[in-house]
Amino acid sequence: MSTWIRLFAVATIFIVPLLSWERSAVLAKPTEKTSFGKTPDGQNVDLYTLTNQNGMQVAITNFGGIVVRIQTVDRQGKTDDVVLGYDSLDGYVNDTAYFGAVIGRYGNRIALGKFTLDGARYTLARNNGENSLHGGIKGFNKAVWQAREMAAEDGPSVELTYLSKDGEEGYPGNLSVKVLYTLTDRNELKIDYTATTDKKTVLNLTNHSYFNLNPAGSDVLQHLLMIQADKFTPVDAGLIPTGELRSVAGTPFDFRKPTAIGARIEQEDEQLKLGKGYDHNFVLNRKGKGMELAARVVEPTTGRVLEVLTDEPGVQFYTGNFLDGTVRGKGGKAYGRRSAFCLETQHFPDSPNHPKFPSTELKPGEKYQTTTIYRFGAQ
Ligand code: GLA
Repeated sequence: MSTWIRLFAVATIFIVPLLSWERSAVLAKPTEKTSFGKTPDGQNVDLYTLTNQNGMQVAITNFGGIVVRIQTVDRQGKTDDVVLGYDSLDGYVNDTAYFGAVIGRYGNRIALGKFTLDGARYTLARNNGENSLHGGIKGFNKAVWQAREMAAEDGPSVELTYLSKDGEEGYPGNLSVKVLYTLTDRNELKIDYTATTDKKTVLNLTNHSYFNLNPAGSDVLQHLLMIQADKFTPVDAGLIPTGELRSVAGTPFDFRKPTAIGARIEQEDEQLKLGKGYDHNFVLNRKGKGMELAARVVEPTTGRVLEVLTDEPGVQFYTGNFLDGTVRGKGGKAYGRRSAFCLETQHFPDSPNHPKFPSTELKPGEKYQTTTIYRFGAQ
């Protein structure tokens, strides 16, 4: 027997079974459910840790549908958790930054907490000056969701459901919401949102994960960002869109070519001043109705890459301007200003009061359906 044949035989007999054993060891427990504690009103909450075939892990709790951990490898193969959050449920119960949470019924602001639907005037809970932000005083981020572990075709999943009752935070209609989180074997966190209502309503669901692809670094200003948007929606002093779709050309909002987040953030620019940095909705350049790349972020030190794909028309790019170091997160770490960024895929803020913006209305008999993918890699 030639040496090559012998080597091949050894590989087949010893190495191949070893590899598949390792693979099945990972596969054996694609989803692990553990207790995450009790809410102050005594409801049990769990943590679902999803593991894909590459060993990548994402942890999700049914409190607020929050993404608690996303563990990804850098270019050296070193694993780190790339999202901000807390070690225990308490942190999330008291949180005001929306770390990792599902946002609903309405992602971002509705001016003065008011809108009209078919002649009926609705008044929402106001929790952001005179405006309503991220669903009101008790948004979906503070609800305990029903959870079900699933094995989707493309990876381990957890399905979360919640019934938002007619009149909750001022919104009309019993809204039945489903959020399906899947960790695919392509190292993507896929989020499928669906909802139905029994009365005409408005909704705009998103996820509020705060990313730092180099968690050892202090801020995210070195991250290179690309957003596929020729336009953004400028805001007033209350961070409500004025209604204009403004070209990004020649402004610090032009991220059509990869640019460091911090390169222009301190420029003398009216919109940056109003946002205390970036806190704006970008109008995505869309070719059709399906999933398209919205944004791509590269962290130069670690080589980590995050790609955001969505079927939504917009994305809120927020640079953690309100974080001020007083919040202590995982491992007691103080989360300072701009220590993370958010890319919240969405319809535009305040759409119910802007008939020219893509509609956020949902009628009985219709199905709200939208998907966002956060894809991780390293280069
Ligand atoms: C969104 C808003 C910001 C801020 C954060 C949460 O991104 O646009 O103004 O409220 O949520 O702190």
